[in-house]
Amino acid sequence: ESSTEIDISAIQPGQAIKAIFRKQPVFIRNLTPAEIEDANKVDVGSLRDPESLKDRTKEGKENWLITMGVCTHLGCVPLGAGEGEVKGEFGGYFCPCHGSSYDTAARIRKGPAPKNLMVPEYAFTSDTIVKIG
Ligand code: FES
Repeated sequence: ESSTEIDISAIQPGQAIKAIFRKQPVFIRNLTPAEIEDANKVDVGSLRDPESLKDRTKEGKENWLITMGVCTHLGCVPLGAGEGEVKGEFGGYFCPCHGSSYDTAARIRKGPAPKNLMVPEYAFTSDTIVKIG
């Protein structure tokens, strides 16, 4: 089984990086307090794929949002991790293929994608290393 270890120490609040896990892109994002607040303000029951930010992050590490970088519509790689500020209207990620917008918890908010960006299995092996898979 292949897992991937990633050093997250250089990822600043507000930044997201793209890594590769099992040949697919994975996004690792350090959310700002404002982005966390935006995610927590949303009525979970109103969402297409109802999950809270807490459901999608580890306890005490709510700022680390780790998701696959694979749109749940037809599998394009959304923008917003390493392409500057192309985050779409909900501040998370934007899939240019057919216009799916994801919010700061990478939850689908608009466009054809049926599900939130998938959260892979992962664990923090130290304060600066995350092991995916
Ligand atoms: Fe992302 Fe269609 S593949 S919107």
